[in-house]
Amino acid sequence: MPVCILVDYPRPIDTLFLQRCADILLRSKGLHQREVNLLLTDNSTIEQFNSRWFNRPWPTNVISFPMNDPDCFGDIVISIDRAREEAEHGLTTLPNRLVELFIHGLAHLLGEDHELGPEHAQRMESLEFELKKSLFRRNIMADLCINVDHVATIRQARGGVEPEPVVAAGIVELAGADGVVVHLREDRRHIQDRDVRLIREIVQTRLTLEMAATDEMIGIASEIKPDIVTLVPEKRQELTTEGGLDVASLETSITEAVSRLHDSGIPVSLFIDAEREQIEAAKRTGAECIEIHTGRYADARNEETRDKEFDMIVDMARLATDLGLRVHAGHGLNYQNTGRLAAVSEIVEFSIGHSIISRSVFVGIERAVKEMLAIIKGC
Ligand code: PXP
Repeated sequence: MPVCILVDYPRPIDTLFLQRCADILLRSKGLHQREVNLLLTDNSTIEQFNSRWFNRPWPTNVISFPMNDPDCFGDIVISIDRAREEAEHGLTTLPNRLVELFIHGLAHLLGEDHELGPEHAQRMESLEFELKKSLFRRNIMADLCINVDHVATIRQARGGVEPEPVVAAGIVELAGADGVVVHLREDRRHIQDRDVRLIREIVQTRLTLEMAATDEMIGIASEIKPDIVTLVPEKRQELTTEGGLDVASLETSITEAVSRLHDSGIPVSLFIDAEREQIEAAKRTGAECIEIHTGRYADARNEETRDKEFDMIVDMARLATDLGLRVHAGHGLNYQNTGRLAAVSEIVEFSIGHSIISRSVFVGIERAVKEMLAIIKGC
């Protein structure tokens, strides 16, 4: 269950960083199945809580309410006003200070109380340090890797030389993308072999090669050495990749493909639907990573179906993380539907193509990339 953040504050507050940190912190304590509610409010509301429950009629920065409930671990209330002042005095940012206060509140929920004496204060400080350590040296926000296939689709429409996907790869990197993705299809309908070779040479972040698990493609990958291969199903008649790889049925052949790619030193991700049996099978193949196919979520015709698909993605991302798999997500994601997934801390990378390249036609690639980065990283 993700930390449920409620904002009751007169100005908008970006909670993406806090949400992802809070989820990682709960996971580090094995509490990610329990509910924690976090209210972000102002000084006057926290003063009311402080006065009513602790007989202290002044605004404090954070208050915790442990619950004796098997589902709900507790509630935390934080004053944005106090957090902002403390951030300024402590020369830190508001998002960082909110995380520090959440850690303090969580330490209280975990049973520590610095007010009970020096020994307790020391224990609580150690616990807070341990919690902070679970955030050290890790990429809190998800990466954005951009698929430039559809730049090649436009080029192939005329069979000429422009627009050049290799140039697009350079521009998306300059705009701040964390990686470039290309899908070398068996029918070469968009990306060509020379595109993959040239993009391999110029990419300075990382290159993901999407491909079918065929001998030909494994041969090309072994020679070009992308940073990671994503194995996808491929049907000649499809417009785009429809549905995930059925790893559960093809476990033997996929395991062999994974092992051949590993022999060439290439890590492997499997593009699969958000289904338990696919995730468990993916784990057995030895792949390092899965990419959850988000098409059913993106294409949902009504809110109810979309919510159901979203919940399924969250549950399956959790399961995969618990099994030690890295979780990526992609397909059909756009400027409207990505924000909700960006708050899911288990998803560490997004692979997005069509919507970004489409928007580039109107606003340019750089701006289209930056707008998506703002959604995924909250900056
Ligand atoms: N991930 C995979 C494995 C894909 O096959 C595709 C489509 O090429 C994408 C992500 C990107 O999907 P979209 O172009 O809809 O953003």
